[in-house]
Amino acid sequence: MSSIDWKGLPFGYFKTDYNVRCYYIDGKWGELEVSDSEYITMHMAATCLHYGQEAFEGMKAFTGKDGKVRIFRLDENGKRMNRSAVGLMMPEVPAELFRKAILKAVKMNIKYVPPYGEGASLYVRPLLIGTGAQVGVKPAKEYMFMVFVGPVGPYFKEGFNPVKMQIVRDYDRAAPLGTGSIKVGGNYAASLRASERAHDEGYASCIFLDAKEKKYIDEAGPANFFGIKNNTYITPDSVSILPSITNMSLRTIAEEIGMKVERRHVPVEELETFEECGACGTAAVISPICKIVDRDSGKVYQYCKDGHVGPISEKLYNRLKGIQEGIEEDKYGWITFVE
Ligand SMILES: Cc1ncc(COP(=O)(O)O)c(C=O)c1O
Repeated sequence: MSSIDWKGLPFGYFKTDYNVRCYYIDGKWGELEVSDSEYITMHMAATCLHYGQEAFEGMKAFTGKDGKVRIFRLDENGKRMNRSAVGLMMPEVPAELFRKAILKAVKMNIKYVPPYGEGASLYVRPLLIGTGAQVGVKPAKEYMFMVFVGPVGPYFKEGFNPVKMQIVRDYDRAAPLGTGSIKVGGNYAASLRASERAHDEGYASCIFLDAKEKKYIDEAGPANFFGIKNNTYITPDSVSILPSITNMSLRTIAEEIGMKVERRHVPVEELETFEECGACGTAAVISPICKIVDRDSGKVYQYCKDGHVGPISEKLYNRLKGIQEGIEEDKYGWITFVE
């Protein structure tokens, strides 16, 4: 569509033509339906509204250099949505239904998939919500699964350029045995105050520490954290972080290019020893971090000193982006073509 300014797109909501929906009633999923409405009607006592019984996902579709549209790691997103479903006592979405819904939503809005080379993509947002009425704290009996899509620009306005982050201790995103490892809206509600404050104080995002001891790095806002030193890719292992599919993919690529990979606790003091640091997630793939400031002690950790992105982050980024855009071989079967 020539009227869309692809290069100027924010990472935000964009109205497209259709979305798809499916209802779970009487213990089973119905047929996939197509809607042109941006609204959903539901019971005012729906569990998603009162008790947070909802989960979502996020993935992207890209136009490759060859003009074909590719979706990145669709099935992994489906698996993660089902882990969220189990965690929140919601019915799982069968893998086949998940796949069909995503492909249908993308195909019906194919004109909104940004062309190759514009730095934009089509964001795909699956959503699973408890729609049945309950007043006591109980799982609903009825659910809705839907998928909407929209073209987006980069999440961080800096794009693949270094960002500044802030370590916080006065807010936690998720409790150690809570819902941090699943994609429920409540985790994001819990992160809003700290994130907005970080923005106001001039940072792209805040870094949350483990809620129990406040010793280890958990997550970099809505992204996982990684550090690089001695040819090793190091990323936090924590029960309260969302297992990022981008991070999972970067670990595979790191091994492929001959690096060691460690998933373990990452103490805050270790920040001093990293050669490169980054945040990773669907939105930006990698946001290299140039500076981390500890909000309590004022301590500053500096990376990519002359403003340049570290060579390993760049290599990892290019390989992953290359697979997403069909420039590099997809030897792991991460891509689903939209035909
Ligand atoms: C809290 C949180 N952590 C990490 C990620 C990155 O996950 P992924 O790479 O699957 O997008 C996201 C984004 O989905 C997130 O919301």
